[in-house]
Amino acid sequence: MLAVHLISFFFSKLKEDPTKKVDRFLYAMRLHDDQLSDISARFQAEMKKGLSAESNAAAAVKMLPTHVRSTPDGSEKGQFLALDIGGSKFKVLQVKVREGIGIRKGGVEMEEKTYPMPKELLIGKGSELFDHVSESLKDFMQEKSISMEKKHPLAFTFSFPCEQTTLDQGMLLSWSKNYRARGLQGKDVVQALREAIDRTGGMDIDVSAMVNDTVATMMTCGFDDRYCEVGLIIGTGTNACYMEELRHVDLVEGDEGRMCVNTEWGAFGDDGALNDYITQFDRDVDAASVNPGKQIFEKMVSGMYLGELVRLVVLKMAKRGLLFDGSVSNALRTKGRITTADVAAMEQYKNGLNNTRDILMALDLNPSHDDCIAVQHVSTIVSFRSSNLVAAGLAAILTRIKQNRNLRSLRITVGVDGTVYKTHPQYPKRLHKVVRRLLPECHVRFVLSDSGSSKGAALVTAVAQRLASLKRQVVETLSPFRLNQAQLQLVKARMREGLEAGLKMKGSSTVKMLPSFVYHTPDGTEHGKYLALDLGGTNFRALLVKFKKGLQQNARLYHKIYTIPLETMQGTGEELFDHIAQCVSDFLDYMGMKNAHLPAGFTFSFPCEQTAIDTGTLVTWTKGFKATDCEGHDVVSMLREAIKRRNEYNLDIVAVVNDTVGTMMSCAYEDPRCEVGLIAGTGTNVCYMEELKNIQKTKENTGTMKRDDGIPEGEQQDDGTEREKKEGDAEISKMCINTEWGGLGDDGSLDDIATPYDKEVDQNSINPGKQRFEKLTSGMYLGEIVRQVVLDLTRGGLLFRGHVTEPLKTPGIFQTKFLSQIESDRLALLQVRSILQQLGLDSTCHDSIIVKEVCKAVSHRAAQLCGAGMAAVVDKIRENRGLDHLKITVGVDGALYKLHPHFSQVLQKTARGLAPQCDVTFMPSEEGSGKGAALITAVAKQNQP
Ligand code: BG6
Ligand code: BG6
Ligand code: GLC
Ligand code: GLC
Repeated sequence: MLAVHLISFFFSKLKEDPTKKVDRFLYAMRLHDDQLSDISARFQAEMKKGLSAESNAAAAVKMLPTHVRSTPDGSEKGQFLALDIGGSKFKVLQVKVREGIGIRKGGVEMEEKTYPMPKELLIGKGSELFDHVSESLKDFMQEKSISMEKKHPLAFTFSFPCEQTTLDQGMLLSWSKNYRARGLQGKDVVQALREAIDRTGGMDIDVSAMVNDTVATMMTCGFDDRYCEVGLIIGTGTNACYMEELRHVDLVEGDEGRMCVNTEWGAFGDDGALNDYITQFDRDVDAASVNPGKQIFEKMVSGMYLGELVRLVVLKMAKRGLLFDGSVSNALRTKGRITTADVAAMEQYKNGLNNTRDILMALDLNPSHDDCIAVQHVSTIVSFRSSNLVAAGLAAILTRIKQNRNLRSLRITVGVDGTVYKTHPQYPKRLHKVVRRLLPECHVRFVLSDSGSSKGAALVTAVAQRLASLKRQVVETLSPFRLNQAQLQLVKARMREGLEAGLKMKGSSTVKMLPSFVYHTPDGTEHGKYLALDLGGTNFRALLVKFKKGLQQNARLYHKIYTIPLETMQGTGEELFDHIAQCVSDFLDYMGMKNAHLPAGFTFSFPCEQTAIDTGTLVTWTKGFKATDCEGHDVVSMLREAIKRRNEYNLDIVAVVNDTVGTMMSCAYEDPRCEVGLIAGTGTNVCYMEELKNIQKTKENTGTMKRDDGIPEGEQQDDGTEREKKEGDAEISKMCINTEWGGLGDDGSLDDIATPYDKEVDQNSINPGKQRFEKLTSGMYLGEIVRQVVLDLTRGGLLFRGHVTEPLKTPGIFQTKFLSQIESDRLALLQVRSILQQLGLDSTCHDSIIVKEVCKAVSHRAAQLCGAGMAAVVDKIRENRGLDHLKITVGVDGALYKLHPHFSQVLQKTARGLAPQCDVTFMPSEEGSGKGAALITAVAKQNQP
């Protein structure tokens, strides 16, 4: 007896453990840690590829920006309807976030109903699918007595890959899982839903946000755990999202902060990246799916496929005689007969083997005990491979987050949902264990989403709603800055009236139209050495300019820049001119030319009434200058007197020139078509070549025309003879007019376009009521307009959380150079935030976006207004000359034109649009107006008797 027992014991030991043959058979599905690390590294490379603008189009893993910029921050509230499509259940819900509850934790109430989703709808017409969705929504509202009259915001969880440019829009890239309804691919599914809701009728629904289930899951879990920055689904399908640094998301503008990226990792392997890990069973599952070749990773991992993988393995083993003594049933041959629920049941702790037997018997098989052990082991290998692959993917994401943040270790929470994770008894534990083994340095917590994705979707919608209402209010505030074509035409017409009135009027007019006594643009014969002084822009400059005789367009410049302190700009006239004389002294020392007695041209960028090239009576200070005892005086005399007071060097001041005129001359030296000068800098102004016959006021003022040599035409010279006609005299038919267009509107003619902010800026300036056009368009004022708007938005609670700080109340903090930086396209948000920080303003990402919007609106209007003014000027020149078409060049200078990223384009576009009969070329001045002043000096000097 004992011997029999021993023999049978001996044979039972000889008989192979049934799991061993399965292990051998499924060798390729059992992944070791080094293989998992390899897969993880491959997935990291795929993520990079998907994020980069260059490689995204060809990338299998799409890395879709979601426009969700933060995890819940506790400020979300409201009442929302929600739709949840794409998982194993289609649900309609009502979600209340902190409505009358007032506490953070548990501050969400939900009611939900699961509706059937008939199979034929999944593969029918897209519009019918959405009709069913919207009819279910209506049914839900009726059942829950939700008002049909009131407007309801709706959160939409749509668990498929969508390309989003905003939260409330999403183009379906491709269907996945078991959906393939026609006519929706490549279309905006939010729009499709809205249309279906309209067709159903009787509801007032605002689809405010659409989110993927991964994103919604991350947000759901993030509500209670602020470390939750990853969302993971292991359900019908599989996917993950995480918070990526915006600077790495090429497809979205901006670089500051983070954005949730929906990886769509189910498509990992679609380009062959996993080929060496794919088994024959995976190939068979793929070939029999609705989307062959697509979602390769998903097909190795998710609930829709696990049961099928097990069935195919068992079938093949049976066929090979490794199971059921080689017998196979029809049921076992039928697709879908083993489900993921079966897989979970087979792996139950206690009842697993019994469950396996029941499942196999239901398939008309007659399993032995060993067969049951073997089939259970097949299940384990298939589901273990799934959790291993998910662990590899997660390890890649967590490694990336860790590297992004430059951390050695990482504390992070992963929010998880999906039937596989929720119902498979061993899955979560295995997954957690492998992730921790692959990333020992990370502290990873897994949190199961307690209430599905709709809670998270509602949180996203709450933020979207708040932002949308904020945006509406900002748009409303900025709307008076947006000028339409008709308004710009009006500005052009008013500028034209201003030009005409200024030419005719003897006394003061808003557009002063001051004669410059410059009759010619340069002809290239200018030569010699000249000093040029340049006062009135951002800085004072002293220059030495050398023109080589006979060599056209050959000038050499040496210059030095001096700042003029505010107290000097606004002190006494004597102090101001003494300061200039001192700067000149320093420059002459610097050049070693103290004794040269050079001829000098004086660029003086303020309105001067001139009766000759070398005299100019300051009409009024503009921009930031307000020195006493200057208005009404000849500035050339004041400069001469200051030099005399120094008694140190001599200068022969031959010409006084406005900066517009200097700029026009500078550019005309290069391009003879240049007959207009434009400044868009601290101030704004234009000069142009006007017909002498139109310049009434010069005749009235002086009785006779004086020429740039100072000698009236036909007058007798000292020797009694009439002055000889010089070469070119006959051609004198034009004179450059300094328009001083900055004064347009000083009679109220621009009041209809000025905003309350402009009025405030004018009132707070040193010359209220004056230079109204300049105050809408030039560098000295744009920052102040921006500050007024920002102040107002802050007071209204739309910016800086409503905190009006001291810096914000300080005039002049927004210098125009900041506007240029703020509006530059690259590094924009980073710059905005650091600039605002410098100004003592602690801004969020959204504050920065709004401030940038304000800057854009203000500078865009400025450029348009200058463009409209320019259209009036060039059209006038064209009409003066009786031409249908005029080709002309405008010489331009000024920091706003040169440094602002968009000003010049908008100005040019507007001018061309409003003066279609003129072909206007804009030419930035290379060396400022000093060279032009020197050219004028050269001509005047050559003509001196
Ligand atoms: C649910 C979500 O909880 O999980 C769904 O609300 C999601 O939106 C689902 O798609 C994923 O799991 P399954 O197993 O239903 O596909
Ligand atoms: C300079 C001219 O280049 O541009 C100055 O030489 C002029 O005369 C100036 O006033 C205008 O620009 P801004 O930006 O300095 O006012
Ligand atoms: C599929 C979808 C994806 C979704 C996932 C989980 O992979 O493409 O968008 O997140 O299933 O439901
Ligand atoms: C102011 C001055 C004007 C000057 C302009 C640009 O408008 O009044 O003379 O040309 O600024 O500097």
